[in-house]
Amino acid sequence: MSMPNRRPPHGAALSATAPRAAATTAPAAEAGGDRSDGGTPQADDAPAAGLRFPSDFGWGAATSAYQIEGAAKEDGRGESIWDTFSRTPGRTRNGDTGDVAADHYHRYVEDLDLMRDMGLRSYRFSISWPRVQADGTGAPNQRGLDFYRRLIDGLHERGIAPMATLFHWDLPQALQDAGGWESRDVAHRFADYAEIVFRALGDRVPVWLTVNEPKTVVQNGYLEGHHAPGRQDPDAAYLVAHHLHLAHGLAVAAYRTTGSGRIGPALNLHPCYPADDSPAAARAAILHDGYENRLYLDPVLTGRYPQDVLDDLGPGSRLVRGIRDGDLATISAPVDLLAVQYYTPYYVTADGATVPRWPTSQASWQQIHPDGMYDVLTRVTRDYGPLPLTVTENGLPSPDTLGADGTVDDAARVTFLRDHLAAVHRAVADGVPLESYHVWSLLDNFEWDAGYDQRWGLVYVDYPTQRRVLKRSAHWYRRVIAANGL
Ligand code: FCB
Repeated sequence: MSMPNRRPPHGAALSATAPRAAATTAPAAEAGGDRSDGGTPQADDAPAAGLRFPSDFGWGAATSAYQIEGAAKEDGRGESIWDTFSRTPGRTRNGDTGDVAADHYHRYVEDLDLMRDMGLRSYRFSISWPRVQADGTGAPNQRGLDFYRRLIDGLHERGIAPMATLFHWDLPQALQDAGGWESRDVAHRFADYAEIVFRALGDRVPVWLTVNEPKTVVQNGYLEGHHAPGRQDPDAAYLVAHHLHLAHGLAVAAYRTTGSGRIGPALNLHPCYPADDSPAAARAAILHDGYENRLYLDPVLTGRYPQDVLDDLGPGSRLVRGIRDGDLATISAPVDLLAVQYYTPYYVTADGATVPRWPTSQASWQQIHPDGMYDVLTRVTRDYGPLPLTVTENGLPSPDTLGADGTVDDAARVTFLRDHLAAVHRAVADGVPLESYHVWSLLDNFEWDAGYDQRWGLVYVDYPTQRRVLKRSAHWYRRVIAANGL
């Protein structure tokens, strides 16, 4: 089965003719760069050399529960919609599932040591709702909470700040059976779950993120259907957006009564540029931006849905009909920070389609455009004020292989990270209040419908043996962290 593009725009087909894999060719500056010994910085650093970050900058890496943990049936974990989806024939590449994944549930101590060896200062992970509440309701499963307590304690012991996401897409299947995110009640179940987690772990986690990329649930899960729960129903999709926002707001409210750290949403943002100079393309790019960015930023940060998107959806849409009195006040309760995830820009034509402009990665939806990082970060600060920001995801998949000499030479990832960090640095220099940056991902992992074919990690995982090998990019990142810059 040919896999669909991962993140197609609303209603519009992505061009099938995007050039592929250009980024896997390293530019000349990469040749001769450090391989694996962590020795003196060489050509890897050259083009962006001399960029220092603020002294307390939070260098990090990110993962999510279903993508790395495995141990799908252990210690009382219930089923999630990703168990169901990935076990359904034809849904994922090669029929891959997260049953074992990177076996992090059993190997977390080794993984903590890798993080320490790389010098990470921050680690973003997610908590699996079905480990904490097998069916999404009722009394907590202590063994599930204990796993995260051990993980968090292990981070503190190694001087790494934990950053925990409450929901990274693994909705308990029982709640899906009760209507999933189309049901308003699920937002309340989420608040209950959040409160359990805050009470159990809140004192040990300084930064909480509520819902990871609500847009991806909306677009991939409910518009395109190539993520769980595999629906293709635009009207349901935007109601789901509202309920995910509500879940976020209710979790923030629960946190204010139970926790004293900081909390915010995690949004994937895409700069939307007109594909040409025509006024029609400019107009189309603005509406596209509404669907890609403002539909997720505005309710949370301004208490309003973007009017152009509401108009485009029409008064009969389930989103519009689903908004109740008080919802937007709940959704827009003040947050402490905004987590931004950046992967790709969009170029929008007059008829609202998107076309590629830059080389794409192994993930056909990703165009490599580091300036987009600068544009996203500066735009958020310009349009929404000086809210503290963290980049919680940014990265590149590549078809990495373990060499005969035991090294993994992911030169393209080094180039990608270097160029994106240079853009991050520029944004910080221009006044963006960014406090940390997390590479997606710490480890190779289960990349949703793309299964294990796409390797996103700084650390290579040899799945048959579960052996971990630091890639060239991990050694490079360790030097960046040690130097606090490029
Ligand atoms: C993001 C997801 C993350 C991973 C990366 C590649 O959209 O949050 O889980 O799939 O993309």
